[in-house]
Amino acid sequence: MTRESESGLPVERVYGPADLTGWDPAEKLGEPGAYPYTRGVYPTMYTGRPWTMRQYAGFGTAAESNARYRQLIAHGTTGLSVAFDLPTQMGHDSDAPLAHGEVGKVGVAIDSVEDMRVLFDGIPLDQVSTSMTINAPAALLLLLYQLVAEEQGVPADRLTGTIQNDVLKEYIARGTYIFPPGPSLRLTADIFKYCTAEIPKWNTISISGYHMAEAGASPAQEIAFTLADGIEYVRTAVAAGMDIDDFAPRLSFFFVARTTLLEEVAKFRAARRIWARVMREDFGARNPKSWMLRFHTQTAGVQLTAQQPEVNLVRVAVQALGAVLGGTQSLHTNSFDEAIALPTEKSARLALRTQQVLAYETDVPATVDPFAGSYAVERLTDDVEAAALDLMRKVEDLGGAEAAIERGFQKAEIERNAYRIAQETDSGERVVVGVNRFRLDEEEPYEPLRVDPAIEARQRERLAELRAGRDQGAVGAALDALKKAAEGEENVLYPMKEALRGRATVGEVCHALREVWGSHVPTETF
Ligand code: 3HC
Repeated sequence: MTRESESGLPVERVYGPADLTGWDPAEKLGEPGAYPYTRGVYPTMYTGRPWTMRQYAGFGTAAESNARYRQLIAHGTTGLSVAFDLPTQMGHDSDAPLAHGEVGKVGVAIDSVEDMRVLFDGIPLDQVSTSMTINAPAALLLLLYQLVAEEQGVPADRLTGTIQNDVLKEYIARGTYIFPPGPSLRLTADIFKYCTAEIPKWNTISISGYHMAEAGASPAQEIAFTLADGIEYVRTAVAAGMDIDDFAPRLSFFFVARTTLLEEVAKFRAARRIWARVMREDFGARNPKSWMLRFHTQTAGVQLTAQQPEVNLVRVAVQALGAVLGGTQSLHTNSFDEAIALPTEKSARLALRTQQVLAYETDVPATVDPFAGSYAVERLTDDVEAAALDLMRKVEDLGGAEAAIERGFQKAEIERNAYRIAQETDSGERVVVGVNRFRLDEEEPYEPLRVDPAIEARQRERLAELRAGRDQGAVGAALDALKKAAEGEENVLYPMKEALRGRATVGEVCHALREVWGSHVPTETF
């Protein structure tokens, strides 16, 4: 009986030469580091440099998170990845009524340049590459990072890192949007222009499929809707007058790694090939760096279980192996206890050690794209590619990603797949070890990390001191200048930077923009 893959594709019991009849390796694969990049974006891949071990972390105040980053650096992490709390992600200050109960909870609370300075205290910003998972207020956090770098004497052209800055997927799956799609895409284009001019090594966006996958998207849906978002961003920047080869090399992507390793490897390889063709053939990009799909991977949080949490160590190891076999540039491995609470220092260290075992004890990094030529994986790569292209055509027929989002297309497709997964799990057809099979009568106790509730009070005090100690008139004038830019065509990042330098807060800057652009209200789809 032929089994179905996560994308609903047939998975044959045995693959053989017949499955690759007429299959031309030169056309389908190319060389590693060459068009269409199926085998990877660099000629030497991990034999030249291991992937970046970039653990997503952040909680409490900037001081607590700074301590965790120093621990991770001491344990051997090779890239930073900042998690912000929801008030910061939604553009509210820690003392805003909407922030109550969320300050420092799912990430670090950042209200101003003073908090950003503490967050990177003792961390030289010309020595690290920092990812920031921030979307609607991405411009603000990038500018705060640049202001702190200036204080450290680090010039902007030495800064490396990424802002997620992918607001389209927020409308589809994650929800931390602020402004309506139009102004959000204008802000995205302003960021592309600003970074091209001021911070040339910065990755301006991390176009994400991860959160769609966590919401229930299949592998084919994940890459189809992510690449369709990518096409929307490219069109927006070109329409804003940018040359594609000026900004496309600094686009990046973010995907999940599920436990179904073979289809995940096929998914990554298919995504690279699709993007390379879209950029060279459809958009006419001439710089090979514009054709390269560079991506970060996080192991699948939604596949972690609260039951028998140690079993998650095995899931994460398999998922991480899939990401590496699939050619990821950067990787976050989830901690085994994350279905229960924020990771402890020990569980976060164990997650990093998982990557280090893959990088330094296995032979997987010793050769590029080891699955190349595999009957099964090449056939799966072709099948996932075909399914994704079919979905991309449907999005295109609706007028592109933004228009399809307005109609709720991606959200409805993902919810349909999520429902199928839930039904299969409830029926036991889809085995979840420890949950619907191989259960324990009595779960063993586990003491999770708890975030100190006094953090909110401490953060409010810091804000009160900041407001009392700044030139209120200068802040007001800077916010007025920002509003004027937002009303016109001027790139808002320049006046925004001066407002933040004068210690305007994240909430005040976002509120100034809300006054001009309004806030997005989702259209309900059923
Ligand atoms: N040969 C030659 N050069 C190589 C090489 C090789 N084998 N390997 C790497 N290099 C070079 C690269 O060219 C690059 O140099 P350049 O910038 O001058 O081109 C440098 O070494 C660094 O390599 P990468 O750019 O490949 O690796 P990075 O780690 O720096 O960047 C990225 C990876 C995907 C491009 C980047 O966008 C990134 O780091 N993204 C991370 C995103 C992230 O962490 N997101 C977290 C999300 S968490 C979230 O959303 C919420 C949660 O709930 C899920």
